[in-house]
Amino acid sequence: MSNGKKADSQTVYFRSADFPSGGFLFKNRVRIAPNDRGFMFADGLYEVVRSYGGRFFGFAEHLARLRHSLAEVGIDFPEIGELPGIAQELVRRNGLETTAAVAYIQLTRGLCERRYPFPTPPVVPTLYIEVNRLLSAAVEAEQGIAAITVPDIRWSRCDIKWLGLLPNVLARQRAVAQGANEAIFVRDGVVTEGTHTNVFGVKAGVVLTHPSDHHILAGITRAQVIQLCRALRLPVEERPILQAELAGLDELFLTSTTGEITPVVVLDSKPVGRGRPGPLTQQLQRAFRDLISSLSQGD
Ligand code: PDD
Repeated sequence: MSNGKKADSQTVYFRSADFPSGGFLFKNRVRIAPNDRGFMFADGLYEVVRSYGGRFFGFAEHLARLRHSLAEVGIDFPEIGELPGIAQELVRRNGLETTAAVAYIQLTRGLCERRYPFPTPPVVPTLYIEVNRLLSAAVEAEQGIAAITVPDIRWSRCDIKWLGLLPNVLARQRAVAQGANEAIFVRDGVVTEGTHTNVFGVKAGVVLTHPSDHHILAGITRAQVIQLCRALRLPVEERPILQAELAGLDELFLTSTTGEITPVVVLDSKPVGRGRPGPLTQQLQRAFRDLISSLSQGD
């Protein structure tokens, strides 16, 4: 994810207790205070929203998920409705209207002395938004990727899109060190999700994915893919995939805002199914592409 711009020419949006009016500024002008609770405690949330040719996809769903995250951690952010307009303006100011791009939106509880309890009265949440050009993942989408499984050592509130990503970082690093692209978490013998992706399996024509609960992030792409399955009359079941079932799956794929639908063709160094993207995965990829092109044509 990079728009090829340096920090002295990339326009971002920033608002904090030190800069309560908020505004657009060059990235190298942003000053995050050391006592920001995001810096001290990872006391904050984020969202990643994709735009295709200048149009954001599923912003309403991303905002609904952010509202859920905010409510669960008790951050009050009544200005949430301003986010799409700010992100759209960043697309414009950075000349990203004709390309694939992603908005990264981060909110923290704000700036105060380093104490665990929430500040009273509440302080202005710190808001940071940048939009970057998205590099093409066409090769991964077409050829598939390798993944590994790792123990899911994360907390039990993975439904909150929380800034604290160290377990995800460590797991992804382990994957990369082993020449793979993604790590898939396994908790108590059950496949939960990837470090930044949801996981789907296909067995005997049935599409399977973990139910949306506290152990996974309710992916916007995941929900879209479930809807596509229904529209295509592909049987889909939201039920846990057991680790013991992995070796016998016909197909395995990942979903995410940045990667859309990505086939996994090698898992823990062994081929998945026939070791190439499977037919249902490819059918869903085509349906997803059609949906996106209808969106960019304004349907
Ligand atoms: N990742 N699971 C986790 C742990 C994630 O961080 C993400 C999103 C997903 C997929 O959700 P969605 O389809 O809404 O992107 C699942 C974002 C893109 C990221 O951190 O880059």
